[in-house]
Amino acid sequence: MTKLSPTTSPFTIQPAERMNGLPTQFFATLVRKANEQIAAGHDVINLGQGNPDRPTPPHIVASIQEAAANPLYHKYPPFSGFPFLKQAIAQRYKEDHNVDLDPETEVAILFGGKTGLIEIAQCLLNPGDVCLVPDPGYPDYWSGVALAGAEMAFMPLREENNFLPDYSQLNESDLNRAKLMFINYPNNPTGATAPASFYEETVEFAHKNGVVVASDFAYGAIGFDGQKPVSFLQTPGAKEVGIEFYTLSKTYNMAGWRVGFALGNREVIRLINLMQDHYYCSLFGGIQAAAATALTASQDCVTELRDVYESRRNALYTALASIGWHARPSQGSFFSWLPVPKGHSSQSLADLLLQEAKVVVAPGVGFGTHGEGYVRLGLLSSEERLAEAVQRIGKLNLFG
Ligand SMILES: Cc1ncc(COP(=O)(O)O)c(C=O)c1O
Repeated sequence: MTKLSPTTSPFTIQPAERMNGLPTQFFATLVRKANEQIAAGHDVINLGQGNPDRPTPPHIVASIQEAAANPLYHKYPPFSGFPFLKQAIAQRYKEDHNVDLDPETEVAILFGGKTGLIEIAQCLLNPGDVCLVPDPGYPDYWSGVALAGAEMAFMPLREENNFLPDYSQLNESDLNRAKLMFINYPNNPTGATAPASFYEETVEFAHKNGVVVASDFAYGAIGFDGQKPVSFLQTPGAKEVGIEFYTLSKTYNMAGWRVGFALGNREVIRLINLMQDHYYCSLFGGIQAAAATALTASQDCVTELRDVYESRRNALYTALASIGWHARPSQGSFFSWLPVPKGHSSQSLADLLLQEAKVVVAPGVGFGTHGEGYVRLGLLSSEERLAEAVQRIGKLNLFG
């Protein structure tokens, strides 16, 4: 056996290039700062994150408890998941949106929506290709594009355009190289929703420019003021040009369970399933059984949850108005997007609110450069805590 000489230089791990291209986790700093305040003994109200605060409905929990004892689920599940779960999501889309989906060819089961957002970029993009990404937008879109070694072109979401992208403003050279685009309504972070006409325009745009549409419908169950969010797949021709991502995380408070779906265009679904065949052997069967229960049982829990968020939203905006912080109420999702007062950046306001009011909000700049000038508040605390947060902020006299 050769003995290592004491002069041998230390073994170093060299990460692959793609690791260096990953975007920095902006919100990790936010979490650290909030934890410092909590560790110092302060009563911090955290409105900065997007983790549903309520438990999964009991009938879904009971379903996995029973399924856990079923030996069928102790074996490897089928590669692309159990057919009963694909049928359940297809049936839900039919009932909720009158969309027809073939469970075998137009549905892929995902480990949460996040996984699909990363996978689709790798399925479709080569280095040099462009992905159109909303700004502000959910940062996970950036991660998939980075892992694919592709580039991003940002589509500004402006308040004067109801936080919808204006396709006529996109630049020609980006459009020539664009192969994929993300859209997301009800929107994180702005709380905006999109009308059917926007999706019609999107299908036309996609056709004209040869761009695959990835509609992120994570908040598809949360629309306010009697407005049910529109699914991209309801649009004539949608399945020819794209897919939709859906997740159980928000609709049924199942964020920890990691269940999502990609739905729509057969070729894109085939590619996602193919990639997943190499990565995984589908989710634990017990989770798939409980997910099917969530989708096929009474949807009263979904209506109740939406009512809870709507009531919290109303309480929040009433409180905000009372301290002079005026904003357009969100139309869906569980986020509120509020303009920062004069003299502040989104980061300086977020820092001030944490230091002086012990309230965590997410600075808009973390969602992209067009997020500057806003902060995001989550409706993920009780009405009392939301009111208390606003009352503490009010004491700082920041609003005219
Ligand atoms: C806009 C948006 N898309 C997708 C997701 C991913 O959700 P999940 O991976 O839990 O399905 C989230 C979660 O916060 C989100 O806000």
